[in-house]
Order: sequence, then structure tokens, then C-alpha cells
Amino acid sequence: MKPPEHTATPGNDIADPVARPDAAAKCAGTARYLADLAVPGMLHARTVRSTRPRARITSRRLPPLPAGFFVVEARDIPGRNRIRMLDDDWPFFAEDIVNHIGEPILLVVGPEAEATAMIASRVIIEYEDLPPILSLDDALAGLAPPLYGEDNCFAEYSFHKGDLPQARRAARQMVKDGFSTGFQEHLYLEPQGVLAVPEAGRLTVYGSMQCPYYVKKAVEQAVGEGRHHVRIVQTVTGGAFGGKEDYPSLLAGQAAVAALKSGRPVRLVLDRTEDIAATTKRHPSRIDFTTFLDENDDLLGMDVDILLDGGAYSGLSSVVLQRAMFAASGVYRVPHLHVHGRVLATNQVPAGAFRGFGAPQAFFAIEMHLENIALRLGLDPLEYKLRHALRRGDRTCTDGLVRGAVRLPEMATRLCEAAGYPAKQAAYTAGQGRYRRGIGLSLCYHGCGFTGQGEELIQGTIALHKRADDAVEIRVAATEMGQGAQTVLPKIVAHSLGIPLDQIHYENPDTDIVPDSGPTVASRTTMIVGGLLREAALDLKRHWQSGRVMDIRRTYHHPPHIHWDQEHFRGDAYPEYAWGVNVVEVEVDLLTGLVRVIKIWAQFDVGAPMDERTLRGQMEGGIAQGLGYALWEKLEVDDGRVQQQRIRDYTIPTFMDMPPVESGSVYNPYEFGPFGAKGAGELTLVGVAPAVAAAVQQAIGCPVDMIPVTPEMILRRIRNRKHAKPDSEIPPESSPRSRSRADT
Ligand code: MOS
Repeated sequence: MKPPEHTATPGNDIADPVARPDAAAKCAGTARYLADLAVPGMLHARTVRSTRPRARITSRRLPPLPAGFFVVEARDIPGRNRIRMLDDDWPFFAEDIVNHIGEPILLVVGPEAEATAMIASRVIIEYEDLPPILSLDDALAGLAPPLYGEDNCFAEYSFHKGDLPQARRAARQMVKDGFSTGFQEHLYLEPQGVLAVPEAGRLTVYGSMQCPYYVKKAVEQAVGEGRHHVRIVQTVTGGAFGGKEDYPSLLAGQAAVAALKSGRPVRLVLDRTEDIAATTKRHPSRIDFTTFLDENDDLLGMDVDILLDGGAYSGLSSVVLQRAMFAASGVYRVPHLHVHGRVLATNQVPAGAFRGFGAPQAFFAIEMHLENIALRLGLDPLEYKLRHALRRGDRTCTDGLVRGAVRLPEMATRLCEAAGYPAKQAAYTAGQGRYRRGIGLSLCYHGCGFTGQGEELIQGTIALHKRADDAVEIRVAATEMGQGAQTVLPKIVAHSLGIPLDQIHYENPDTDIVPDSGPTVASRTTMIVGGLLREAALDLKRHWQSGRVMDIRRTYHHPPHIHWDQEHFRGDAYPEYAWGVNVVEVEVDLLTGLVRVIKIWAQFDVGAPMDERTLRGQMEGGIAQGLGYALWEKLEVDDGRVQQQRIRDYTIPTFMDMPPVESGSVYNPYEFGPFGAKGAGELTLVGVAPAVAAAVQQAIGCPVDMIPVTPEMILRRIRNRKHAKPDSEIPPESSPRSRSRADT
């Protein structure tokens, strides 16, 4: 068996691994995370939170406050009590209404951490309960008054391609399917935290974060635009996964206001229980398909309805929904398509950014749907999927042109050979006995960079500063959060300049020094920020004068071929796409419902790797997080309260849980990416869950239409098998070959 290709760029050694600059301090325990930072005169803040999902605050009673202790609440905010995000509904502190359990009401601030926590625990908030919306079902039923707007909908969109009604009329078969996914908690290495330090006319906020300029704008809005010089400095960040894209803005605004009120530095660090209870999560989803097949069993039309649970505040939900919608028909050519999406408000912890940003939900659904169609038709899923996979020159779901080569067929074929997919696919369906095997496959893409005109609109700007000693400083707002930005970006600059890596310096961003190159999100850092750095470095090289100080700036503009109509969601939804294939083999114990993952095979097209080992980190890390999402990470919110409280009861995969992973990448350079690079950060998580679910479905012989696939769910499905009804409708005119999965 030939191992999958793990390609280095031919004739270019940029992919050769180098030592990570951040590794030594993190491994030795000397890296200083936010909670390790203390400055003279620093005060500690502790949050008093709502214990009700939806209520009016009728009174708050403080215990006696010792000298030096004080509280900070909504009325202390000199600017606006709204976190600056896409929308304007989310307050730093609740005013008279609370909308989710864990919502911050006030801070108790004082010179001693334990006393501060003690006082905070004695604050008594009295409420008058209001009728809450505790689930998507509640939201759909519409019995309680809306939380947001008149329709309780944070965002609603739809887009069309082709003529779906015509496809419906012309179809030979119709297949319906529905899927749901749960919350996911980021469980980054260190909980969220910030430290706000006031100086004369200045306010500096240090914190564990992804997006210093988001935080800057949020703090400016809290303290009053133009009243203070606000400076944001990222501290060592040991993981973020999207969870530090939005929420640090809230903490920074709160701590900044506390620092201004007291004139002293204020540190606000969440403990793990607070962090799990109150910070953003991955959106739970429900996705329904009505798909029309033609006389050759090919995909003719698809009607997709996506519903996301946005929790109590809108946050980034509208764009998460857009990303989910652009993934609705997966990697497939669907001539006639209608996609409708909504994010509803509920009185639960707000949902926000999480690695994949809507795509993991959508790819779980579409990949399972295609799997189910193939099985119902009696066809091999691999063959059926590849038959419909996008190729260069095809039109995407939004009618964008697929410009780059799509190497999915060879990636999938090679992977399936390595995994023995066809033989196992055929053999495992007829499994016997207590332990049953299954094998599953998924194809996926991830859009690199912001959706639509996003990159053009934010005008990300980078700078290179060449010092007199000929060392070069990278000045970008991009943050290292474990993903490898500090490894990859300096390599791009060093290779472009043709100078040694140790001549390149790249510090954690400080908004007093770096321009706004955009947030560290959306798989954009290597491709967009790295691309700008490469251009700037080539320019610097042309004008290089040893011993002279030189500064170069570059601002991003889309390549001219990119077109996007945001009103109709038409055109190039992304600048470029990265692609992935996953194959997963499992063994399920039918007695206990436990799933053992035997092995995972994965192939990715990230253009060109900028560092083989960093890419391996993204591949294995994304796969681990995707496995957790598929099987183990169950975050339950009952009556508005997150049930899991610690790492102990929220089960992410550990080293011991990881199956062997055989992963690699193909070389498929993107013309406008640095050295051909596209994005790799989110792609590696996106396709894992559907491959796992397809494998489990085969092993147990019952439909798997939701994740996480817990043992309880598996046992329930097996028990109900004999009562199970096919969850798809195949009309009588369906072709004789078709059969229902539930009959097998
Ligand atoms: Mo992200 S989920 O684009 O930080």
C-alpha cells in the first residue's frame, strides 16, 4: 500500500519544517499567558451573572463592600453599552433585561481576587421571570414574545440558481432528508481573559484574542469614541478556534470601563466553568433537503432549508449563516437550487464563531444526504459523489466560476485505495455479531478568506519595517493562537527576501504598531495576509539598501476576476477554495453503543503547504476536533442552563482517544496565494463528522441523522429499528433500483 502523497513544493524548500518560534516557551511552561500577567496596583474583577434565561431585573443588593472594592455595571459605561459587532443588540452588561443564563450583570472589582469572588457570590439579584425561548422548537412555535425584532430572526436569506420549480416538474424521483447538529464548545487551552491598564489619556488592553482591531473598536465604543487613546496588545494565546474572535470584545470593554472607573489596572480572567457557561458556542443546526433526481438518478435540483440556533444575541450569526448556506450543496454540481436560511434567537448562551463557521453543520448534512441517496439507489457513495463533484469550469452554488483545478477525484480515489474503501463498503453492510464495522467517506471544501466582497471591504493592510541592522519586522494584526502564524508568515517573508529566517521578527500584535490587516479568522491569514507580505517583501527586495531603514505597506484588493452580488448572493462566494477528503473506519459495540474509531485517512488540497509540520498540526488537530464534534462533545443546554461545567464533563478527545491518522496534502497552487498557498485552518475539521457518521450508520444499519453520535443515541436507534420508518420519501414513480436505506 502506497502511503498518501505528502507533497513538498517542487524545487522550493518553503515547506520544509522549521522549529516553531513559540514552541520552546510553551513547552517549558515559561510562556506568559494573560492569567500570569500582573502589574503593580492591579485589581481583580469577577462577574455576577444572570441565573435566569429571560427575566427583568427588579433589584440588585450588594453586600457591604470593604474599602477599595466597587462594582461596575451598565450605567458606568461612559460610551455605549453595546458591543460593536455586525449588529447592535449585545450589551456589555445587562440593563433591565437578562436574556441568557450566564449573561454578565455587573463586575465586582477589588484588590484581592478571593475576596472579590466572595463578594460577587453574595450579590443578590432579584428577577421577574419572562417567558423564555429555550430551544429552536420554542422559537419556531413562537409562543413567547420575540427576543429580536418582530420575527425573532437574527438573519434570513435565500438564494436561487437555475429553475427549481422546473426541476421539480421534470424530476423522476424526490428524496427528503433532515439532519441536526448540536452545540460545540471550543475548550481552548486557557480560558478567556483581559487586563486593562489606564494611563494618562491612554488605555491599554492586553488579552488572549484573535482580533486586536475588533477589540479596539469595541473598547472605543465602551469608553466613548475619541476620549482615550485605546491600544490593544495580544498576549500568548494557547488556542482560540473562533471562540476568541468575538467574545474578547465583551471582556475588554468591561475591564476597560472598570479600569477607567478606578484609575487602576483591572484584570478579568474567566474560570473554566464561567467560560463554558457564558462564552459563545458553535450554532446548533437543523438542515432539511428536498432533492430531485433525473432519469439517470443524477442530481437535478435541491431545495435546502437551514435553521441555526443563534442564542441570545446576534453576534456573528448572520455571516455564520451565510457560510453555512454557501456550503448547502457541498462540493456538488446542482443545476437547480434554492437555499433558504434563518438564524433564530433563543434564551441560550450566544452562538458565535467556531472553526468552520457554519460549514461543519452544512457539510455534515449534505454529505450524509448524498450518502443516503447513493445507498437508496444501490450505488457506491464514492462513485456517486465523484460523479457530481465540481470540476474546474463548473459553476458553484452561487454561480461563481470554479477557476482552480479540483483534484478531489484523485485525492478521493487514492485515499479510498489506501483505506480499502470499496471492499469494506461492500463487506460491512452485511456485518454480524456484537461488534460491527463501518466505513464512511466525505468530500468537502472550505472557502478561503472572507465571503463575497469581505476582503475587498475591509482592505486589510500590512507593513514590513526594515531596520538599520537589516532585520525585518512583520507588522500585521494576525495573531498566533497555536495554528502557526508565527511560523508560516516569517517563512513567507524570508523566502521572498532570500534572507535567513532569524532576520525576520514578528511579535504579538500591538495596535499602536501594526496596521489593521484584518482579524485572524476565516482561513485568511496565510493566503490573504501572507500574500500581502509576499508582495511587500518582493518590493522591499527590489529596493533593498543595506543599513537603511525602510517601510513598506500593502493593502489587499481582490484579483479583478472576482465578482460578488451581496444582495442576491450571486458570484464568487470566496476568493478561492481549499478541498478535503476524509475516510473513517469505525467499530461499534452494539451492546454498549460505544464507537471505536479504527483509523482515519485524510487528504487536503491547501494549495501548497508553507510548513509541512505546521500543516500536519492543522490536519491532526482539525481531525481531532472534528472527531469530538462527531462523537464525544455533547454540550447540553437544559432550560437555558449549560449542563457541562468543567473539562471533566465535556469530553474532548485526548491523546489516548486518537486513532491512527494517515493524512497528507496535494500540491495545487493558487495563483494569488503566497507560494501557491490557500487556507488550511478550518478545512481539516469540516469533513470529519459526516465521514464518522456515515461509518457508524453503516455499522449499525440505522440512520444517523444527528451529531454528536453518542452511545445513548446509537442504542436508541438500534432498539427502535424495527419500528423505524424510512425518513425519505421516494415517490412511486421512482426507479426500480431504488430502495430505502431502512429496508436494508
Ligand atoms: Mo473563525 S471560526 O473564522 O475564527
